[in-house]
Amino acid sequence: MRWDVHRFAEIDSTNTWLTARAGGGAPEGTVAVADLQTAGRGRLGRSWEAPPGANLLCSVLLRPDRVSHLVVACVSLAALDACRATAGIEAGLKWPNDVMVQDEKLAGVLAEVADGAVVVGIGINVGWAPPGAARLGAGVSRDDVLRHLLEGIERWYEAGWDEIARGYRSACVTLNRAVRVEMADETFTGVAADVTADGHLLVDVGVCTREVAAADVVHLRPA
Ligand code: BTN
Repeated sequence: MRWDVHRFAEIDSTNTWLTARAGGGAPEGTVAVADLQTAGRGRLGRSWEAPPGANLLCSVLLRPDRVSHLVVACVSLAALDACRATAGIEAGLKWPNDVMVQDEKLAGVLAEVADGAVVVGIGINVGWAPPGAARLGAGVSRDDVLRHLLEGIERWYEAGWDEIARGYRSACVTLNRAVRVEMADETFTGVAADVTADGHLLVDVGVCTREVAAADVVHLRPA
């Protein structure tokens, strides 16, 4: 992988910038990283905010041979490696897109498909976290986190989809938990049983197992 990193002091959103470049044929390995986003975007139309220079805000353009949740898994697993290497923090993955430390969100991932490319944006709380969320720590360098993240993406990407699916399953803190699955038109509860080879969540609802491709999931606390 040849990384081509574009740095911005201020931008609307690294995902928006890179998605536009993807349409213009930007190559795999193009990266956008910003000190500040004025219109940072999260999943499901939410915003993503952080004070200037505090957190890692970056997007990576990949052109995988297969577009699936496993592309998100690849970047998420690399984020776990980066958190371990830079802060000694052992984090886990909450399905579908969150990096968690003890039930607090440490990072979020937003993947968008543009002209066959996948733009994967990640916001990692390094020096600042909103209330109720986790961060790596004030002494951690965003550049070090980025370097480990890119190295990790390269390693997982080369390891292949089967290895990524295995890695995701073993890092997924949603598995074996009671969950509420929230979709646009329906909400249901069950126990997260497994993740398929495509990265879909299998939820045991008693009478059957349901396969969920896209949703928000809430980890329920035991009564
Ligand atoms: C989420 O948890 O809702 C996903 C958050 C993704 C935020 C990152 S920050 C860098 C990139 N640019 C954006 O506008 N969003 C992603």
